[in-house]
Amino acid sequence: MTRVLIDCDPGHDDAMAILYAAKHLDLVAITTVHGNAPLEDTTRNALSVCTLAKLNVPVSAGADRPLVQAKLQKQTLHGKSGIDGADLPVPDRDVTGEHAALTIIREAKRSPGELVLIAVGPMTNLALALRLEPKLPELLKGLSIMGGSTTIGNVTPTAEFNLWADPEAAAAVFACGIPVMMAGLNITRQALIREPHVARMRASGGPVGKAMGDLQEFYARRSNAVYGLGGAPMHDSCAVVPFVHPELIKHRECHVHMELASPEVRGTTVCDLRTFLSEPAGATRRQLPANALVALEIDGAAVVDKVV
Ligand code: BDR
Ligand code: CA
Repeated sequence: MTRVLIDCDPGHDDAMAILYAAKHLDLVAITTVHGNAPLEDTTRNALSVCTLAKLNVPVSAGADRPLVQAKLQKQTLHGKSGIDGADLPVPDRDVTGEHAALTIIREAKRSPGELVLIAVGPMTNLALALRLEPKLPELLKGLSIMGGSTTIGNVTPTAEFNLWADPEAAAAVFACGIPVMMAGLNITRQALIREPHVARMRASGGPVGKAMGDLQEFYARRSNAVYGLGGAPMHDSCAVVPFVHPELIKHRECHVHMELASPEVRGTTVCDLRTFLSEPAGATRRQLPANALVALEIDGAAVVDKVV
C-alpha cells in the first residue's frame, strides 16, 4: 500500500481527503498549516477528524504564516472554526510536538523512495522542509498538490487560494526538481458533492457519515452562495485520486511558472500547455522544461461517488 503523508488546513474538503486517504492508503502522518483558518484551528480540526474516525495517525503542527508575505486575514468560506456545520468531538489526543517540516523529512527518510507527499493547503510546510533538507525530493516517491489552475482562480481572477496564500512557498515546490502533480481548480470544480451525496453519507448510520454529511451540507451551501457551483467542491480529494483511482484523472507534463511579481496576478500558476512549439523556437516561443504533471481531465461524478 502506498505510504502517504497529508499536509493540510482542515477545512471541509481537507477532512474528506484525510478520510479518503486513510481508507485506501497507508496514511503515516498528517501535518497542519495555516490557511482556511489560523494554524491552531486547522490543527484542532485535524485532531477532531482523527478522533471522530478513530484514526490512529500522528498529527504535527507546522507554519502559522506564509514565508514572506503577511499573515492571512481570517477566511470565512469554511466558517468560524474552519470546519463549521457539525459537532465534531473534542480531540482525545494531542499533536506530536515535532514541527510539521521535520515530520515530513523524518517520514521521507524512514523509507526512501516510498513516501508520497500530498499537500492540500498553502505550501509553507513543504517549502520549509525543502529548505531544511535539500535532498528531500530524491527521498520521495511522489508529490501531489491541490492548488493552482489552468483556467480561472477563486481568490483573484487567476489565482487559487492555496498557492495565493503563500506564493513564494509554492514557487519553491515547483522548483524542487521532481514533477509536481497538480490538481487545480480547472478539475477540482468538477468534483461536487450535492444533496443526494449528503443524504447518502447521513444514511450510512455511523457517527462519521452523519458528521461528514452535516459538514459537507454546510460547505455546499457556503460554496454555492459564493461560487454558484451547485455543490461542495472536493478540491483536496482530487490530489489523492491519482493514488487510489488513477483511471479517473488525466495529467499532462508541462512547465508551471508561479507568478510572484505582478500585483494583479501574483499567486497564479502559468501552465505552459502550448502544443504548437515544434517549429524552431524564437525567444517569444521559449518553452521551459516540464516541472509538473498538471491534471487536465477528471471524471468528477465518479470521483465524488468514490470519495463519498
Ligand atoms: C483550496 O482552498 C481551500 O478552501 C480548500 O480546502 C482547498 O484546499 C481550494 O482553493
Ligand atoms: Ca485545503
